[in-house]
Amino acid sequence: MFILGIESSCDDTGVAIVKNGKEVLINLISSQEKIHAKFGGVVPEVASRKHMEMIFPLVDEALTRAGLTYKQIDAIAVTVTPGLLGSLLVGVNAAKVLGYLWGKPVISVNHLLGHIYAGELGGRLVFPLVALVASGGHSEFVLMTKHGDYKYLGGTRDDAAGEAFDKAARVLGLGYPGGSAIAKVAKRGGASLPRPLSASAQIDFSFSGLKTAVARAKGGKAELAYEFQEAVTDVLIDNFTKAIKKYKPKMILMGGGVSANKVLRAKLESLAADFGVKLILPEMKYCTDNAAMIGAAAYYIRSPKQDKWYNAEVIV
Ligand code: KG4
Ligand code: ZN
Repeated sequence: MFILGIESSCDDTGVAIVKNGKEVLINLISSQEKIHAKFGGVVPEVASRKHMEMIFPLVDEALTRAGLTYKQIDAIAVTVTPGLLGSLLVGVNAAKVLGYLWGKPVISVNHLLGHIYAGELGGRLVFPLVALVASGGHSEFVLMTKHGDYKYLGGTRDDAAGEAFDKAARVLGLGYPGGSAIAKVAKRGGASLPRPLSASAQIDFSFSGLKTAVARAKGGKAELAYEFQEAVTDVLIDNFTKAIKKYKPKMILMGGGVSANKVLRAKLESLAADFGVKLILPEMKYCTDNAAMIGAAAYYIRSPKQDKWYNAEVIV
């Protein structure tokens, strides 16, 4: 089964073709990072217009490079939510137009689910699992007991982890996107920052105060960047620990842009080893927004009969 995935929820236009939910034939991304960098964040109107420009050329290119014709595509999967409305509309309408013209079903996929299924592109999901999706817009812990069964466990009260990196980087004058900028300059030093809500028994955290703490803290940029990265990753690991103790998963995994963070990846590896649980850390290219994960998710949210999709609305 060949699924054409489309992702346009934020500032990256993605088109991919995924075979049987696992094998990525082609994964194209048109990044708008440079365009938005000068504004210090994503400008929604600019993002939508750029998606409109890129989306159909990327579909053509994906088919050509995968050596397929549209007739060989079995379904089109598209991110429907959450995301920037204007950006989502471009992807959804492109998918509907293609579905109509090609006579193929269009499957709606939740973006966060896509980030979880990025794990299938480099491993195999083992249930029950606890996943953390941490990106510029989200920091959510999810429990999955089987394909199609998701439970929200908790997350940030305010800023998402990636957003916190972006804001702290702005305070430190390090540019955008903040995650990679902070990781690049971080150097161990004497700076000290709080670990907000680490005493809470719930899976529950807050990052909005950290930005202010960075602004007020004493220390050089590199030391503050280091300590900030330590604080955010400690809080996420603390919450993973609570989830492991409570739900006893066989596997933990991460998705979203923040999972590209090397310090966090190392901490997750030792956490998984300590508790004897399996771990999937997607390849970097599947951590950030991409369409391959959307194609993969659509495959696995099909019913066992393989003739209809559940937890996903077939929109054409
Ligand atoms: O998943 P993503 O590409 O887009 C969203 O859906 O938001 O995530 C982007 C976010 C940005 O906030 C960025 O600062 C963060 O992921 N990020 C990182 C790293 N690389 C990207 N955060 C921490 N460390 C990184 N190495
Ligand atoms: Zn994302």
